[in-house]
Amino acid sequence: MIVYFNGKYLELNDVKVSPFDRGFQYADGVYEVMRTYKGKFFRYEDHMQRLAYSLNEIKIKFDKLNDLTVILARLVDANNQNNEEITAYIQVTRGAAFPRKHSFPPEGVPPTVFVSTSALPQNTFSIDEGIKVILEQDIRWKRCDIKSISLLPSILANQHALEQSAGEAVWVNDGSLTEGSHTNFFGVREGVLYTAPLSNLILSGVTRKVILEICDSLGIQVKESAIKENELESFDEFFITGTTTEVKPVVQINNLIISSGRPGVLTGKLYEAFIKIAYSHSL
Ligand SMILES: Cc1ncc(COP(=O)(O)O)c(C=O)c1O
Repeated sequence: MIVYFNGKYLELNDVKVSPFDRGFQYADGVYEVMRTYKGKFFRYEDHMQRLAYSLNEIKIKFDKLNDLTVILARLVDANNQNNEEITAYIQVTRGAAFPRKHSFPPEGVPPTVFVSTSALPQNTFSIDEGIKVILEQDIRWKRCDIKSISLLPSILANQHALEQSAGEAVWVNDGSLTEGSHTNFFGVREGVLYTAPLSNLILSGVTRKVILEICDSLGIQVKESAIKENELESFDEFFITGTTTEVKPVVQINNLIISSGRPGVLTGKLYEAFIKIAYSHSL
């Protein structure tokens, strides 16, 4: 597998990361994940904008965002010849500097840039199936709008979900369900779609944005207002969204079974619309 690392295209095993890299020592960096539909990266500009936002918010100076188009094309060319769909991982850290020191490294220390592409596994998911999610108290920092590589709370929550036979953990912040460990969260009540508003408490999901655009085009009413834990029973449907998750119905939250355990009708409609748009790169 060929990857991009600090200006070079290398065999994965030839990559040498400094133990003093700030990503390695402090999780001082940001990342992006994208995927292709029909071989073309979906919502590429949205992902690049979010990466630029994350970099800017943590003050990493990286002026080569435009090079990523060529880097990704070369990696896809080197790794993915079988017309399969691809996921790309881009990570930028504040670089390697010695001695270890919390404050930023001196001017001139370049960021560490890593990019990889890999084939997405065949999608075996059916929209007729829903998943269980568990609720976790949100123990993350208060800048969840930044796609930081510091993911320990999400790792622990996700592992906990797995151990409870659940597909995702959803964060509860001050009594409200904000988002999942790696997805955005939605509910439907009497035909109205609810999702937490953009703020420092959630990541501005690209898939979330597409879903809201679909609702706009289909005339589905949206309330960007977080769903409260004590009102879950009043909702008819729930689902989560994400780049590789796409749109997944949620049919159980902790022990609460939603609508007799069947995926919701509006969820199905939004899923169909999403898939159509994703494969046609329209909207
Ligand atoms: C915390 C969090 N929320 C939401 C999302 C969904 O974002 P997107 O739809 O851009 O993949 C992700 C994706 O990784 C995430 O990590």
